Amino acid sequence: MTESIAVSSGKGGVGKTTIAVNVALTLAKNGNKTLLLDADLGMANAHLVLGVNPEKSLDDFINKKTELSKISYKINRNLDFISGGSAVHSLLNLENTERYNIIKSFNDLKKVYDYMIIDIGAGADASSISFMSAANKIITVLVSEPTSFADAYSLVKASYLDEKLENFGIVWNMSSSNFQAKSHFEKFQSISTKFLDVKMNFLGSLNNSKIIKQSILSRKPIITNPNLKETECFEKICKNLKSLKPNKNKNIKFFEE
Ligand SMILES: Nc1ncnc2c1ncn2[C@@H]1O[C@H](COP(=O)(O)OP(=O)(O)O)[C@@H](O)[C@H]1O
Ligand SMILES: [Mg+2]
Repeated sequence: MTESIAVSSGKGGVGKTTIAVNVALTLAKNGNKTLLLDADLGMANAHLVLGVNPEKSLDDFINKKTELSKISYKINRNLDFISGGSAVHSLLNLENTERYNIIKSFNDLKKVYDYMIIDIGAGADASSISFMSAANKIITVLVSEPTSFADAYSLVKASYLDEKLENFGIVWNMSSSNFQAKSHFEKFQSISTKFLDVKMNFLGSLNNSKIIKQSILSRKPIITNPNLKETECFEKICKNLKSLKPNKNKNIKFFEE
C-alpha cells in the first residue's frame, strides 16, 4: 500500500516545496521507495530545489497519454520525481470524472512506492483541496506571521467544511527556536480546535536557517549532508508522520480501490 501525503499551506513562500523535497529525500534515504509529485498550480518549482531538469511532466500524461511510469524522473535509487509542468492548470478545469480517472491511474504505481509526497499549491482553491482530499495524510506548513496563521486557518476550515478533512500534521517553519515553534503551534491549535472539529498534530519545526537558504540557492538539497541539525529535524518530522492519523473522508483516494 502506498501512503500519499499532501504538503499544503495557507500562504505561499512558507517553505512547502523545501519541506516536500526534503521529506521525500529523507524517506528515500531511509529505504522507502518514494515518489515526489509536483502539483503546485502555476508555481511548479520542486525541480529547482532538487537541481534537476526533467524532460517530461504531468503534461505528457494528461495531454499525450504517456504512462505515469514513463514521465517519472529518477533522482536516486529510492526516489522518483514527477514534474508538474503546466498540467496542474488543466487539472483544475477537469470534470469530476476525469479528475477521478487521473487519481485512479496512480493505482498502477501502488506496488512500486511506499510513499507519495505531493507538493500542492498554497491556499484553499479547488485544486489544492482536491489533492488534500485525495491524499491519506496532510502536512500543513506554517510560519510565525499573522498572515500565515490566518491563511492556514482558512485552509483548515475550507478542507474541513468541504471535504470533512480532520487530521492535520503541522510543520512550523523558519522559527527562531523549537520552543517558539511549539508555543505558536499551541496557539494555532487552540484557535482551530475551538471552532472546528479537527485535530492538529505537531510534526516538528525548522529554524530559520542559512544552510537551508544556501542549499536552495546552490540547488543541492540539504538532506544530502547527514551531520546537520536540519537533517535531524527532517528525520524527526518523518518519524512523527508515521503516527499521524490518516483522513478517512469518503472521497476517492490515491492508491485505493
Ligand atoms: N527553514 C528555512 N530557513 C531559511 N529559509 C527557508 C527555510 N525554508 C524555506 N526557506 C526559503 O524560503 C523561500 C520559500 O520557500 P519554498 O519552499 O519555495 O516555499 P513555498 O513552496 O511554500 O512557496 C525559499 O527561498 C527557501 O529557500
Ligand atoms: Mg512551492
